[in-house]
Amino acid sequence: MHKLSTSLLVVAATCLIASCSPQREQPIIIKFSHVVAVDTPKGRAAEKFKELAGNYVGGKIKVEVYPSSQLYKDKEEMEALQLGAVQMLAPSLAKFGPLGAKEFEVFDFPCLFPDKDGLHKVTQGPIGKQLLDKLDSKGIVGLAYWDNGFKIFSSNKPVKTPEDFKGQKLRIQSSKVLDAQMRSLGSIPQVMAFSEVYQALQTGVVDGTENPPSNMYTQKMHEVQKFANISNHGYLGYAVIVNKKFWEGLPADVRTGLEKAMKEATVYANEVAGKDNEEGLAAMKASGKTEFFQPTTAEREALCKVMEPVYDQMGDRVGKELITTIQKAVATK
Ligand code: LMR
Repeated sequence: MHKLSTSLLVVAATCLIASCSPQREQPIIIKFSHVVAVDTPKGRAAEKFKELAGNYVGGKIKVEVYPSSQLYKDKEEMEALQLGAVQMLAPSLAKFGPLGAKEFEVFDFPCLFPDKDGLHKVTQGPIGKQLLDKLDSKGIVGLAYWDNGFKIFSSNKPVKTPEDFKGQKLRIQSSKVLDAQMRSLGSIPQVMAFSEVYQALQTGVVDGTENPPSNMYTQKMHEVQKFANISNHGYLGYAVIVNKKFWEGLPADVRTGLEKAMKEATVYANEVAGKDNEEGLAAMKASGKTEFFQPTTAEREALCKVMEPVYDQMGDRVGKELITTIQKAVATK
């Protein structure tokens, strides 16, 4: 009897401390890691997704966004996703090669997309979907494409004419197509993590690089680059990806809520991207630190022409048929 009352006392005390209510379920955490600043198209879209996920499945899910390579650099974040250390990423399409998804490098072909409308025919249509489906065998689910924008060249040496590029050391993302692109210009490409680019430009480890204005501006690259060519010669965008095991293990209603949040975040991402790039470019021009060159159509075409051999050299890497399919899709009215 004495023993029983002691145990009851213990239970009562425990109830007082823990308020004795049935245990509240902890939300499932989605760690979303990325490498760019918060005030970029990807940074903003990740925050938007977090907000929308909170609206639709808050309480059940908590999205934690880690920007600016706080958790992982480019290559590490891919490994972290596959190992389940993070659940969601939005790497640039140029960074899928090391995963074995070489087809994504098709987006890196120089002068392939004339504008955003042409690009969206691919990313927001069946070709884009088929590409995302290829990630399945890598233990990854592709959820959406998010825009950044078209890349411009920058360097501490002039980058106006094809001649100018010869012998320059230029940082690239880890894409073999980008490697071939820089070599076609007579430049020496160097793969480097995004988080290391500013310092490499500042210390002269490389002369220059290519990026959409939003990335160039938010990394303050214009402060360490003398020249830029608004060449818009190639595209940089993202695929939002999740660990497949994690995704398929979520309760169906949670997944539906997250899919809705992703759909809306994607519309938002693609809306803000254009504005961010325009504003970034205007701010860099206004700072007067970099000299910006606006090529004429003929000057841009001359640059594209020099990079054309990349199509022959790298066609087999992504599949020549895929390139033709994209060229056709882009050309349709
Ligand atoms: C880069 O490495 O230049 C970009 O992929 C960074 C990014 O995520 O936009």
